[in-house]
Amino acid sequence: MKFYLAPLEGITGYIYRNALHEYYGQGVDKYFTPFLTPHTKCSFNAKELRDITPEHNRGMYTVPQVLTNSAEDFLRIEKDLLALGYEEININLGCPSGTVASKGRGAGFLAETKKLDCFLEDIFAGTNAKISLKTRIGIDDPEDFYELLDIYNKYPLEELIIHPRVLKEYYKGKTHWEIFDYAVKNSKNALCYNGDIFSVADYERFQQEVIQNNDGHHVHAIMLGRGILQNPALIGQLAQYEHKGEKKFDFDKNQFKLFHDRLRNDYMTQMSGDMNVLFKMKELWFYMIMLFPGQEKVLKKIKKAKKLAEYDAAIKELM
Ligand SMILES: Cc1cc2nc3c(=O)[nH]c(=O)nc-3n(C[C@H](O)[C@H](O)[C@H](O)COP(=O)(O)O)c2cc1C
Repeated sequence: MKFYLAPLEGITGYIYRNALHEYYGQGVDKYFTPFLTPHTKCSFNAKELRDITPEHNRGMYTVPQVLTNSAEDFLRIEKDLLALGYEEININLGCPSGTVASKGRGAGFLAETKKLDCFLEDIFAGTNAKISLKTRIGIDDPEDFYELLDIYNKYPLEELIIHPRVLKEYYKGKTHWEIFDYAVKNSKNALCYNGDIFSVADYERFQQEVIQNNDGHHVHAIMLGRGILQNPALIGQLAQYEHKGEKKFDFDKNQFKLFHDRLRNDYMTQMSGDMNVLFKMKELWFYMIMLFPGQEKVLKKIKKAKKLAEYDAAIKELM
């Protein structure tokens, strides 16, 4: 099984990806960037360029993700990504945010199946890259997916990454494994599963209920997002479970501290002002506190910190 880091806008930028790669990179097969959007006057804005520039992605297999519903814009941005040395590009068909979906992009594009089909046809007529899709299963009815899969099956995708929720479910409720199972049985493209794998136990259940049920065919990768934010060692643990059957892991606080300190320091050198760094670190602590059960009081201190010195003192207490 291959394991991927999911794109998480605002979180898994190059600073996070590099820290993960250095301290927990073993077993991470691909790093997806948060989405890039085509611009009218240039391909990338300064923030996007910083994220995808090759010097910020050394030693990692990075897949840039593009959010658009225009084949022309996609092919334009593709040219610039190929020039930077990328071989593979992912298309976002899953973003549920209102501002994106209302413009018929991300998961919103799934409502316009004819337009989506033409978009893919135009892309595959002109592309020179490996193209993968990251998709939800529909807008409000999980059974929307049957029609979507018929469309995806027409194209030679590098892989089809499925987050089996509909747009209106956002990130709530159970993922629809029965629909993913339908994809396993009917997809002509290689499949990657994404959604709610937070632990080895979740992965084990997914293996038992979906993979073994299908003789292990077709699911070749798992993409993990919030599970890694909560526990950056997760991919290493899943790989160890796969190879050695291990299920229990000690929390290596020293390694986590090195990871944490690299993140904090890299944000500090890249951003101006304590507040921006603190905003980034606090957002991560929303997830990472799971590694420190019973330490909610210290989390409060982290959340309240207005200066880096206050933040550092709280972290010292925690570690
Ligand atoms: C804060 C946040 C930002 C996200 N940004 C993106 C994004 O830029 N592109 C994308 O395809 N999905 C994005 N997603 C969705 C994740 O990639 C992933 O599909 C989702 O979190 C489910 O996987 P998980 O349960 O492993 O986290 C985002 C999700 C969250 C919570």
